[in-house]
Amino acid sequence: MALTLLRQLALATTLLTTAVIADVREYNFTVGWVDRNPDGFHERRVMGINGQWPIPTIFATVGDQVVVNLKNELGDRPCSLHFHGLYMNGTTHMDGVAQSTQCPIPANSSFTYSFNVTQPGTYWYHSHVDGQYPDGLRGPLIVHDPENPYADQYDEELVVTLSDWYHDEMPGLISSFLSVTNPTGAEPVPDSALMNDTQNLKIPVQPNKTYFIRVVNMAAFAAQYFWIEDHSFRIIELDGIYHKPTEASMIYVTAAQRYGILLTTKNDTDKNFPIVGSMDQDLFDAVPDGLNPNVTSYLMYNSAAPFPNATILEDAFEPLDDATLEPTDELALYEDPAISYTIDVKMDNLGDGANYAFFNDVTFVRPKVPTLYTVLTSGDLATDATIYGVNTHPLVLSHNQVVEIVLNNHDPGKHPFHLHGHAFQVLTRGDDDSGDWDVEAFRNGSVKYPTTPMRRDTLLVRPNGHFVIRFRSDNPGVWLFHCHIEWHVDSGLILTFIEAPLQLQQQLGGENGIPEDHFDACRAQDMPFQGNAAGNTVDLLDTTGFNVSPALLPDGFTPRGIVALTFSIVAGLLGVGVIVWYGLGEISTIEQQKEQQKINTFAKETGVVEVTGVDAAPAGHAVAGREKDVGYTAANEVK
Ligand code: C2O
Repeated sequence: MALTLLRQLALATTLLTTAVIADVREYNFTVGWVDRNPDGFHERRVMGINGQWPIPTIFATVGDQVVVNLKNELGDRPCSLHFHGLYMNGTTHMDGVAQSTQCPIPANSSFTYSFNVTQPGTYWYHSHVDGQYPDGLRGPLIVHDPENPYADQYDEELVVTLSDWYHDEMPGLISSFLSVTNPTGAEPVPDSALMNDTQNLKIPVQPNKTYFIRVVNMAAFAAQYFWIEDHSFRIIELDGIYHKPTEASMIYVTAAQRYGILLTTKNDTDKNFPIVGSMDQDLFDAVPDGLNPNVTSYLMYNSAAPFPNATILEDAFEPLDDATLEPTDELALYEDPAISYTIDVKMDNLGDGANYAFFNDVTFVRPKVPTLYTVLTSGDLATDATIYGVNTHPLVLSHNQVVEIVLNNHDPGKHPFHLHGHAFQVLTRGDDDSGDWDVEAFRNGSVKYPTTPMRRDTLLVRPNGHFVIRFRSDNPGVWLFHCHIEWHVDSGLILTFIEAPLQLQQQLGGENGIPEDHFDACRAQDMPFQGNAAGNTVDLLDTTGFNVSPALLPDGFTPRGIVALTFSIVAGLLGVGVIVWYGLGEISTIEQQKEQQKINTFAKETGVVEVTGVDAAPAGHAVAGREKDVGYTAANEVK
């Protein structure tokens, strides 16, 4: 008896100590518009927080509880916050993904995010609604680690963010991207690159010191080559996972990736050195004249010394291959998977003429009911993928299994793929998308996967290449897997893992589950939050009313056909434009010229040789005729 009491006392003391150590980090964030001109070329409104932009960095220590009280004062649109890379174990409803784990937070309302931080490292947070984070709502999130194995190897920490930047706002860019007038799906090219949301920043450093630099790429689109002239560094962290120190002089940071590097400064202070970010122009379909793909900051040893221009040697881009790194914890290769998904990536046109992105012939369309709420209100049917809707691309996982993804990229573009709720092991990555490359060799053991594979949460697949990754389904939740190029989020390159739905019901079902303000967000916008993907609470297997993608193109309708169609439409528009031109003068003329330039470039690229403007219009009524046979629903509009 006495012993039990003693034990209880001891336990109570332990709990008390833990409670003292763990902090609550509370942030009050009012999201609203502010005017900024980060590249010095164009002032525009951006989404700030508490009147600030760049938005604040969220800091926490492992074990802390983070609380973000958000007020949406954007006035004209919803928002949300996703905490990129955090596992959110037990709190998938705080993952911040509109129509997956919550309803978007409507204008003029409040919403609280609250979660425990259980992992150290470099992360970031961003809106996960309507492709809007490139309008400014993205910032770093840093989790300090009392047990950092490299703590004794550095003196100070710095955060360096990379980003691309657009002078125009996302909604307009998205609608011209996802349009019949852009049948090849050419992504809008950024206007500039930024470092710490500015350019030519001077970062003071002292000689003979080691800095832990946390590099975060918060871009919409562009990966950046990153280097510091005349310095090399040691990589110790990839996306929050410690890796064994590896020397490098250049890294390639895709949108959404993070690198933690140790940089030791020189002995002498007579020079300053450019820190360079250079956008990977291979990603751009056409590089606009005058684009400066580079951004420079400085390691400032001496404020009185010159700040030399960066040297950019295009053929000297040889970044370190992240797949060669080994995690510090030496976590062994997971056992053979219980389930392996082969995922084929492609881009194609649908019946509305726009270009979409597909995983296994499915392009993502948001469900009417956030997927998490469908899980929580469907009982035993939660394991039946039907109820979530085909275009949510649901993959239902059992609890605690090894899951493998074999991804073949049939697109000539590079893509950074991100998985929510997990870091994954990278087993192999190659340059072949045929699907029969070497998978058999690996399966029968004649070629071996690494025994302690690199882990991260965002991974580049090369053009027409492949990768194989594994993770353990030990985190019940609704987790997206998607390309982190925001344009491809908008064109549907997303699928949804519904991980251990029955366990999830136990975690979050009932009274103590989802806080009421989450449902208030739905109520305020008349969004359903029960039942299947269409909100049917009676017959969950009835798929009526599900949001779906536009219909397929009729058989035999080729991209070339779309090109012809586009020309007839554009030519038609030009016809209208001429009339407007008489009324509006110069502005329309410039617009027309731009339009004509686009057509000409397009014609060159696609091999359609001659474009002769208005006279080339074969059939103005093709537009009307087209629209009729397209099953276009509001749900398919800009996500
Ligand atoms: Cu950075 Cu779906 O997230």
